[in-house]
Amino acid sequence: MTTTKAYKGIAMEGPIAAWYAKTTLKDLQRHKLMAAQLVKKIPAHGRVLEVAPGPGYFCIELAKLGHYQITGLDISKSFVAMARKNAVEAGIQAEFRQGDAANMPFENQAFDFMFCQAAFKNFTQPVKAIAEMHRVLRPGGVAVIVDLRRDASQADIDQEIKGMGLGRINEILVRWTFKQMLLKSAYSVDEIRAMVSQTPFGRCRIDTSGIGFMVWLESRAFDRGGCA
Ligand SMILES: C[S@@+](CC[C@H](N)C(=O)[O-])C[C@H]1O[C@@H](n2cnc3c(N)ncnc32)[C@H](O)[C@@H]1O
Repeated sequence: MTTTKAYKGIAMEGPIAAWYAKTTLKDLQRHKLMAAQLVKKIPAHGRVLEVAPGPGYFCIELAKLGHYQITGLDISKSFVAMARKNAVEAGIQAEFRQGDAANMPFENQAFDFMFCQAAFKNFTQPVKAIAEMHRVLRPGGVAVIVDLRRDASQADIDQEIKGMGLGRINEILVRWTFKQMLLKSAYSVDEIRAMVSQTPFGRCRIDTSGIGFMVWLESRAFDRGGCA
């Protein structure tokens, strides 16, 4: 029997998950800004799914902005435990479950809004993950994927690294990590469009900014055989 690994490379468990959570806690502003931007797209009391939330920082920031039913789904047992603990400590309500983005443990049309950040390039079955987003999204619901784009220019990368305010050694390390690891596993805008075209979403809008992109997917009524 063959099985498909759910993540690319090393699983983010144990010490790796702890290191990631500690490092990205310094960058909480990223989650605050994203939550403030996306909250405008979420209906009041909406059911929100974050796919691959890691330590749960975005879910926590979103929960602070309104009354939503928030769920996080992550493949990493360490991150699920950590996100549950972080939510309790932050005094917010959110449910964190363990599972694969390509095989979600949810009913059809269970969510009004979906978000996935800095994780899509890690999925081993990206097309299946997008199709699953469509299945669990209600008609008229919106899913947003934010990630690095492989077609970022050298100038974009330089600008990003300059903005980090790093010392000389860290700058060299970060530049190497970007070019040799992160951007290599990332997708170009054209690759994302080609993947989306293989799913019931059919099409998407992609906004690019610097080294990243934001993919907007809408589940239309006629995707499901109904009328538009
Ligand atoms: C770089 S972390 C990003 C975490 C968080 N979204 C953030 O912005 O900090 C990538 C996340 O993807 C998760 N992941 C990788 N493959 C997955 C899969 N197939 N299904 C669900 N989660 C997955 C990892 O466990 C990890 O939490």
